[in-house]
Amino acid sequence: MSDFLPGLEGVPATKSAISFIDGEKGILSYRGYPLETLATNSTFEETTLLLLDGELPTKAALNRFSKQLRSSYRIKYHIREMMRHFPHTGHPMDMLQTAVCSLGMFYPGTECLTDADSCKDIDYVRNMTVNIIAQMAPLVAMWEHMRQGYDPINPRDDLSVAENLLYMFTGKEPDSLMARIMDVCLILHAEHTLNASTFAALVAGSTLASPYSVISAAIGTLSGPLHGGANQRVVGMLQEIGSPDNVEAWVDKKLANKEVIWGMGHREYKVKDPRATILHKLVTKLVEERGGSLDKMFATAMKLEEVCVDRLGHKGVYPNVDFYSGILYSEMGIPEDQFTALFAVARSAGWLAHWREQISNNRIYRPTQIYVGHEQREYIPMSERKKAPKQ
Ligand code: COA
Repeated sequence: MSDFLPGLEGVPATKSAISFIDGEKGILSYRGYPLETLATNSTFEETTLLLLDGELPTKAALNRFSKQLRSSYRIKYHIREMMRHFPHTGHPMDMLQTAVCSLGMFYPGTECLTDADSCKDIDYVRNMTVNIIAQMAPLVAMWEHMRQGYDPINPRDDLSVAENLLYMFTGKEPDSLMARIMDVCLILHAEHTLNASTFAALVAGSTLASPYSVISAAIGTLSGPLHGGANQRVVGMLQEIGSPDNVEAWVDKKLANKEVIWGMGHREYKVKDPRATILHKLVTKLVEERGGSLDKMFATAMKLEEVCVDRLGHKGVYPNVDFYSGILYSEMGIPEDQFTALFAVARSAGWLAHWREQISNNRIYRPTQIYVGHEQREYIPMSERKKAPKQ
């Protein structure tokens, strides 16, 4: 019998050529390119093509892909109408999961996915991939207006994914700094080896479910606070702490109560998450330019990082990607409960790259379990049952 490893820690569940982590050295690369290089030189569109196809695109291929994405920003009327009827208090991640899954009803064609031959219709895979990635950001931004009872802002096909996302959120074309920060955030969140939501996508994909079901399974998995949902909690936590002076006492109380500090720790990294390092620099830049209310939250975050490293560093617990992303998104005027949805917008690129890799060499996931229940036993008639089972 094999050993049971809780959380499948260290258990390889697939072979993948998409991204690589060295958790001791704090290295993350996509298709062999260091994340720092992509964050400096690339765009979300280019990084997405790199993840999907394995190579940096030529100018013509990138233009073609960007054009395809832009022409797919618009959301179908029936999906909009459906969203109008969602409860306005509903969480954006639940909206996104429902909307993406519903979109799949408009795009039949899963018959081309076959176990024997991976997929007979390359165009189906390509078109669905573009369609999903293009529609994630508009869905998230539309919901922001619709849940407040307003009409959504129509997408603009002259804008990049990052620019259009901010435009549809705020109604204003973003300045170049904000647009670049959003673009870098999308690059940083686009892919991260076999995390929980990507694994969920692989499991769903391995059944040859539609890509819309695959992505909706991944969105649901990302929503939990131990995964993507942590970024929403970080800002609430910083607000609760209030100022750098309160940090030490606050951390010590949390640790004494065995509670987690949001935005700290990662299964793979034993040093500071490289994405957190890049985001930290971006927040520093923004504080220098803007200051104001950002100063206090940032100062509290920096003190929190210092105290957590002191108290938890020996366990390999350091800031992760969610620690600084919330501060950035707050400054962009994005509500806290939308942070995880923005994570999903970016991660759709990685999820779909893994989906394509999975279906190109598919075998259904069917792990085993270690049974710890009863031996076979006799059925007890109702009249002879004495004890109520424990609830
Ligand atoms: N706050 C306090 N202690 C933490 C911690 C945190 N955020 N993250 C890990 N630890 C501690 C654990 O309590 C454990 O201590 P112990 O050995 O004394 O029992 C040790 O560090 C190892 O952590 P473990 O729970 O085994 O890590 P994991 O790989 O199972 O979990 C996370 C990883 C991400 C779920 C975990 O670090 C966490 O809950 N972080 C906060 C949520 C978060 O920010 N998630 C986003 C991840 S990108």
